[in-house]
Amino acid sequence: MNDSVFITDVGPRDGLQNQPKILTAGERLDLISALADAGLPGIEVGSFVSPKAVPAMAGTGELIPQLSAASGVQYSALIPNMKGYELARDAGVRSVNMVLYASEGMARANVNMTIAEAENIAADILSCARTDGIEVIAAVSVAFECPFDGATDPGVVRDAAQKFLQLGVDQIVIADTIGAANPQQVRSLTAGLVSDNGAEKLGCHFHDTRAMGVANVFAALESGVRRFDASIAGLGGCPFAPGASGNVATEDVVMMLEQMGFTTGIDLDALLRASDLAETLTGTAPGGRAKAWLKPWLAKRAG
Ligand code: COA
Ligand code: ZN
Repeated sequence: MNDSVFITDVGPRDGLQNQPKILTAGERLDLISALADAGLPGIEVGSFVSPKAVPAMAGTGELIPQLSAASGVQYSALIPNMKGYELARDAGVRSVNMVLYASEGMARANVNMTIAEAENIAADILSCARTDGIEVIAAVSVAFECPFDGATDPGVVRDAAQKFLQLGVDQIVIADTIGAANPQQVRSLTAGLVSDNGAEKLGCHFHDTRAMGVANVFAALESGVRRFDASIAGLGGCPFAPGASGNVATEDVVMMLEQMGFTTGIDLDALLRASDLAETLTGTAPGGRAKAWLKPWLAKRAG
């Protein structure tokens, strides 16, 4: 069994983009640093999107030069289009996360494109990134259900994943954007994806809207997936996907993985400090379920 799991904390992007309170650049950097200090292997630090569409993500470019390179963290940023790619590249981003769509309704609501237009642009971005030496992650959004078009055909997700892996993306992330999936659906789709492409380049991104986030992580683990997005203190949600609530909380996922014998490289004490900071900074982070139990347990363990 491969017992090492790579976690990307998407709180500074998926989390903060949807908060009523807009954090300053300094506050965003403090949160990112707290996550790096906790040993997160990946952190999605922000997005390069229209500041009119998502005011909370304005100024992501200014954060990039201030990220600590010494930490060994893989910092990534979300981009919706070629302009976002160019801004990210010029700011010094080394890993971009581009978005694909499993439904026309979501493509329209998020970026005012069709699925095919978004895929064509994604293919163009990929070819630029190859020249520029930038890593490319492709996330397939609404992979289980779309708030506009209803249930997603798993075949559409499998086709998109296969197509972009063949085109050469470094990673495909299956995103349950509104947190509608159940573990049975996750097991079935991830087993199919692993049999098509292997597990190495496959990641999953779950929201905890229906309290099945951790169960869905477990279902994907059972299929062999070893890369997960999660969000500190359960922050999260997409402003353009009605009903999307917070991501599965990083502290919940890490606690489950560590207790099952997986290795994450994450320090739980430091992770809870990052979670407390996320709650203080936003005032609205739901906080994971694990923290209430973990804090006294860690204190006792420390003696
Ligand atoms: N970053 C910053 N500004 C951008 C941009 C980007 N990636 N892409 C376009 N813009 C600017 C344009 O320059 C233009 O500016 P102007 O009004 O000053 O001339 C404006 O945004 C509108 O551009 P247009 O190409 O007509 O796009 P649109 O109005 O159809 O909006 C997006 C498309 C993608 C820019 C916008 O919907 C967006 O940023 N969405 C963000 C989606 C998101 O973050 N979702 C959550 C994560 S999945
Ligand atoms: Zn999300």
